[in-house]
Amino acid sequence: MSVTGELDLLESSPDFPHQSTGLSERTLTPEELEKLRNDRVLVSDFKQQKLELEAQKNWDLFYKRNTTNFFKDRHWTTREFDELKNCRESQGQKLVLLEAGCGVGNCIFPLLEEDLNIFIYACDFSPRAVEFVKQNALYCTKRCLAFQCDLTKDDLQATIQVETVDVATLIFVLSAIHPDKMQKALEQMYKVLRPGGIVLFRDYGLYDHAMLRFKSGNKLGENFYVRQDGTRSFFFSREYLAGLFQQAGFETLVNEYVLRETVNKKEGLCVPRVFLQSKFRKPVSSLSPVKQGCKRSQHDKDDIDAMLQEILDDDFQPISTHEPIAAKTTTSDSYFETMSKKCCPVFLGGSGVPHGIGTSVSQRNNMPDYHKLKVKLRRKKGGRAYACQCSWHSTLSLTDLREQQQLKWGCGKHKV
Ligand SMILES: C[S@@+](CC[C@H](N)C(=O)[O-])C[C@H]1O[C@@H](n2cnc3c(N)ncnc32)[C@H](O)[C@@H]1O
Repeated sequence: MSVTGELDLLESSPDFPHQSTGLSERTLTPEELEKLRNDRVLVSDFKQQKLELEAQKNWDLFYKRNTTNFFKDRHWTTREFDELKNCRESQGQKLVLLEAGCGVGNCIFPLLEEDLNIFIYACDFSPRAVEFVKQNALYCTKRCLAFQCDLTKDDLQATIQVETVDVATLIFVLSAIHPDKMQKALEQMYKVLRPGGIVLFRDYGLYDHAMLRFKSGNKLGENFYVRQDGTRSFFFSREYLAGLFQQAGFETLVNEYVLRETVNKKEGLCVPRVFLQSKFRKPVSSLSPVKQGCKRSQHDKDDIDAMLQEILDDDFQPISTHEPIAAKTTTSDSYFETMSKKCCPVFLGGSGVPHGIGTSVSQRNNMPDYHKLKVKLRRKKGGRAYACQCSWHSTLSLTDLREQQQLKWGCGKHKV
């Protein structure tokens, strides 16, 4: 059975006519039980590490082979998840949605068509998938932003502001992520969701037919398997999933198995499918650092406005990028003469330079809040970032501030 066939089953009946929901696991037949018990040999550590390293490549190749033709558009999402329609606080409110692991957009385009008052962030770690989303005729930058992001590594906050998303969808994505890294993906989503924001989840459930069909030699760990194309699949129990979400700070609203029988045309069989369909909420009264950061945001904004005004009102001559520095201080000569003070040159440096700043420098109080700034920071070995409210500068090597004329960090009142 090819991988394609395996996933085709999932898509073959978008209207789910014979599905039921429940809280208990599917009961296995004695043969199925025996099969799972006997499947004890795990893929070698070496191969497992390779699969993890190549996870992105393998999904990208999947989209190279299948382009946009593999999955069907998921028109069922609004019916299964009424939050997609009904979670607005006011009627005219624009809903901000994140589709994490968007593939080629089978979830988002039906939503964009159905709901005109929605903005969708859509990310996937496969660059090809993201490109397919952008090439779709329905893609419109006013209503949608597709971007590449590995949910287990990259910072979602580099693109999405903290606590601005109303609803996040995670549709057959978490199962493709290594169990050790699922937590990280959920934590990222937690940060960008607003308090009260919801994650809508649907994925493979424990003892789904696809799990039973894996031949020996494909097992990576408990309930975790690899397909022939190198993509992986985890099969979730309710308890396991709830534990993951709770550890990331979410409350469980709904968490149930969806059971249905699907006809596998290739095998001429009626097979039991098990999915897990769940809803988790970020608590409204969350007191996480993220939440506190959000509470401060209006205050911070006021601070920034006041400080920008202060800078604009300042009586020193602003440094122009076109003038040599020596010519800049003429208006304030009398001031520094009276004060008989002279500024030392200031050097900025990376972490290889002791203290980063080469000479002593006193800083104004216009340094932004670190948590706020952190959202924009990227780690770079040996680098160091400097910022005030309106400018920033990153450097690896020693830099003379006088050569960075766009920065107004030299003293305006003394000779530099
Ligand atoms: C089965 S597809 C589902 C796509 C989409 N959610 C849908 O419903 O059509 C799984 C997707 O998860 C993406 N994915 C897997 N691991 C990921 C990760 N660590 N970060 C971002 N995307 C990931 C894959 O590239 C793939 O597009």
